[in-house]
Amino acid sequence: MPSISLKMNGKTRTGEVEGRTLLVDFLREGLGLTGTHVGCDTSQCGACTVHVDGMQVKSCTIFAVEADGAEVTTIEGMAEPDGTLNKLQQAFQDHHGLQCGFCTPGMVMSLAKLIEETPKPSEAQIRDHLEGNICRCTGYHNIVKAALAATDQL
Ligand code: FES
Ligand code: FES
Repeated sequence: MPSISLKMNGKTRTGEVEGRTLLVDFLREGLGLTGTHVGCDTSQCGACTVHVDGMQVKSCTIFAVEADGAEVTTIEGMAEPDGTLNKLQQAFQDHHGLQCGFCTPGMVMSLAKLIEETPKPSEAQIRDHLEGNICRCTGYHNIVKAALAATDQL
């Protein structure tokens, strides 16, 4: 089996994968990073969103071997090393941006990328950016509020 090496949340991690192994399966089963969720089999829900070399990627849409040598950030890499939530995560907590929480890792990873590129996104930009992330609890309103709060617009 091919061996791959990634810079995962700042640390080098290696593992053996089959050519057909999806990145999300390698993260969850190979590396134990179960914060990245699988909510569909059709690349629609966004629960598996991570950052690969600075790009927002649905990790069920690429093979693990395609990420060989890449820098990958998952939800586990978002908080401070001592566990303190980052500003966006804290805003989700403060504004009830989650109900069951299943979509939350993908929402946070998606919004983090938006905020990195657009530090003060409008509500319309936030809603547009979340087009690829489904919240089956339909908690969108508070998710948008959390994003506005995290960017000091609430
Ligand atoms: S599990 Fe990847 S988009 Fe749904
Ligand atoms: S909080 Fe339940 S799916 Fe979004």
